[in-house]
Amino acid sequence: MTARYPDRVADRDWHAWHLAYDEPGSDLARRLVVVQGRIRCALDEAPPGPLRLISMVAGQGRDVIPVLATHSRGGDIAGCLVEIDPRNADIARSAVHNVGLTGIDVVTGDAAELNHYRPYAPADVVVMCGLFGNISEADIRRMVGYAIPLTKRGGTVIWTRGRQGAHMAPTICGWFIDAGFEERHMSDPTGGFRVGAHRSCVNPTPLPEYVTAFTFVGH
Ligand SMILES: C[S@@+](CC[C@H](N)C(=O)[O-])C[C@H]1O[C@@H](n2cnc3c(N)ncnc32)[C@H](O)[C@@H]1O
Repeated sequence: MTARYPDRVADRDWHAWHLAYDEPGSDLARRLVVVQGRIRCALDEAPPGPLRLISMVAGQGRDVIPVLATHSRGGDIAGCLVEIDPRNADIARSAVHNVGLTGIDVVTGDAAELNHYRPYAPADVVVMCGLFGNISEADIRRMVGYAIPLTKRGGTVIWTRGRQGAHMAPTICGWFIDAGFEERHMSDPTGGFRVGAHRSCVNPTPLPEYVTAFTFVGH
């Protein structure tokens, strides 16, 4: 499964990881409802005209694709989902095709390589779900910094922390605020996971070239 990127995927079956989405009441199933709600909200508030979306470590696209397929702005969106596991990327690609989202590109590749996002940055919606629990604290901070070139002024970053790292959520919120974002949503701390949504209040800087932004280490 990881032949193209043998050294870049943490030792875990990320295809099987998605099965928890199908368990009613699981953290992941409950988190999905919140994440999809925040994506929907960001689209509700987006300005008229063409929109752009970036989803990093996108998995099977279970958060983004159903929302784009059913939202009135779905047809206005061009964007990319970047996922390294070809099995997950294939599932996302089929889902995108099946719902007719012609503006969405599913890239099988390393989401840390910022060049993937160049055609879509700065974006109206940037999804960093399932990322911060799998990279170092220093890399989370770096990614909050890269959220500036990745996100349009007025655009929204949606991010998550799982049960084990939930205590870090206030620190991450502070980093977003320091970087010039405002908090739009922070999920209830008793939920077993945290979902944050931060809106950019700054003009995006140019996306740096040939940067590898993080190392995906897994839990
Ligand atoms: C925790 S899952 C999150 C998936 C999706 N964002 C979600 O929330 O449903 C992490 C995903 O990152 C993928 N992944 C791991 N390393 C990656 C990398 N360097 N670039 C892109 N995707 C990566 C895994 O295959 C897995 O699908």
